[in-house]
Amino acid sequence: MTSATASPDDAGGVPDPRAALESALREIAETADPAALEAVRLRHLGRKGTLARLTARLRELPPERRPEYGRAVNEFKERVAAAADERMRALRPARPAAGHGFDWTLPGNWRGLGRRHPISRIVARTVEIFRTLGFTVAEGPDIETVRNNFDALNTPPDHPSRDPQDTFYLEDGRLLRCHTSPVQVRYMESHRPPVRIVAPGRCYRRDTPDATHSANFHQVEGLYVDRNVSLADLKGDLSYFAAQLMGPDVRVRFRPHFFPFTEPSVEVDFTCHVCRGRGCRVCKQSGWIEIAGAGLVHPNVFRAVGYDPAEVTGYAFGMGIERIAMILHGVPDIRMLYENDVRYLAEF
Ligand code: DAH
Repeated sequence: MTSATASPDDAGGVPDPRAALESALREIAETADPAALEAVRLRHLGRKGTLARLTARLRELPPERRPEYGRAVNEFKERVAAAADERMRALRPARPAAGHGFDWTLPGNWRGLGRRHPISRIVARTVEIFRTLGFTVAEGPDIETVRNNFDALNTPPDHPSRDPQDTFYLEDGRLLRCHTSPVQVRYMESHRPPVRIVAPGRCYRRDTPDATHSANFHQVEGLYVDRNVSLADLKGDLSYFAAQLMGPDVRVRFRPHFFPFTEPSVEVDFTCHVCRGRGCRVCKQSGWIEIAGAGLVHPNVFRAVGYDPAEVTGYAFGMGIERIAMILHGVPDIRMLYENDVRYLAEF
């Protein structure tokens, strides 16, 4: 016993810190299970426990005794906490003994959360935006007939895209669709107008892979058929889509083009997302990025599916999803989207 500490229980039942420490350590050593240990720990370190009472007493001591007393109280706190921790480890083995079942007090195994692939996320977001315009989702198979992929879409017999150099044919004469446009044919043949659909899906082309080409890629097809649908509807809807996807500053432009299944036909550019239209490497200094092919549905397509071109008009578009992913996330090489290196995909 030092001069700085009083004898045990000298003031209203408050014990001397050293004596209190000894008895607390003894009690801890004698506990037989975690619940008992927790009770002892709380009795000494809890809000109304021994420690609290010892601490409260500090103020009543003459100033010259306080430093020594304070040290003793700190020692009490640290050693009781450490002893309780150690005893807890001993009472609660790291593994339950064989045959003793599952120890739910152990921390779980963290496996990390997965996330959606950037392509899936852009498809989902695109669908969501067009839903707000009243579009629903349609789908078609990856293996298509020549009729749906080409003939019904007014593609002439000698059109280069039919060449086996460009399109994958199966032995039975069918093919892997080279665009999502055949979903238009399938949908119109099974539904009466008006039609408002978006059709996301995989497409296949015999392209040699490089930074901007892949033999397997994704498109979202759009089709809106009703009375008096015009190019202005197309531009309005695509402008709305662009603003929702990329922000309110993005602008949309149409360039005249040719597709067999539309007349007139356009290519659709958005202002470059990377440089906001000022000109950069991604947009080859032009400030614009090509996003889609589009146009007003050709009367021959309507005839092929049994619609009357004197009754209805419509617009259609086909957007490249990888294109959008590349400019939205600054991906320099399309192949990075398919290598499935999760360290890279986790960057998005
Ligand atoms: N199918 C075209 C392609 O893959 C894109 C396209 C152009 C789709 C015009 C359309 C359209 O629906 O109207 O390049």
